[in-house]
Amino acid sequence: TTRPYVIDEMISAKSIAARIEALSREIAQEFADTEQLVVVGLLRGSFVFIADLVRELRLPVEVDFLEVSSYGNAMESSREVRILKDLRSAIEGRDVLVVEDIVDTGHTLSHVVRLLTSRNPRKLRTIALLDKPSRREADIKADWTGFEIPDEFVVGYGIDYAQANRNLPHIGKVRFTDGG
Ligand code: PRP
Ligand code: MN
Ligand code: MG
Repeated sequence: TTRPYVIDEMISAKSIAARIEALSREIAQEFADTEQLVVVGLLRGSFVFIADLVRELRLPVEVDFLEVSSYGNAMESSREVRILKDLRSAIEGRDVLVVEDIVDTGHTLSHVVRLLTSRNPRKLRTIALLDKPSRREADIKADWTGFEIPDEFVVGYGIDYAQANRNLPHIGKVRFTDGG
């Protein structure tokens, strides 16, 4: 039931790689005294970004994943987040970096930050590859952002449209071709 569409390149794989290199230098400074950073990817969208990010971070890391339920509409946004897959490790007293592919309304990241903060990490920081500030409903901004983008339907580099296109190496923008 998906409409016909084509994908136009919006951010090239090269630009993404260059941005990750720059962000990694900033993150390495922030966690220079950290024994082992817990890097938490939010499933599923962050799996490509986290893979590239941790390989660029020249720090000792543990990689963990968290999956939370998404919100269909604003009516549900104030509800507590449902954990579909919890972390394997305890994060109390540890330094944690949450990795997200995109912050849209901000409900996902804001719920995750609230959840993980309640577990008393020593330091909790967030990074999102993409940010759509024009769509924000929750009062949150990632500590590091790769690219601010306009309100376009984006796919690739982990991000799906109806579970497709996550494996595109770049960020593309969906353009519907049925004129609707
Ligand atoms: C997408 C995206 C972010 C979230 C952003 O995930 O990967 O996690 O939505 O939206 P928000 O800021 O409005 O909360 P989705 O729920 O589609 O799951 P997925 O990562 O498995 O694709
Ligand atoms: Mn997601
Ligand atoms: Mg999705």
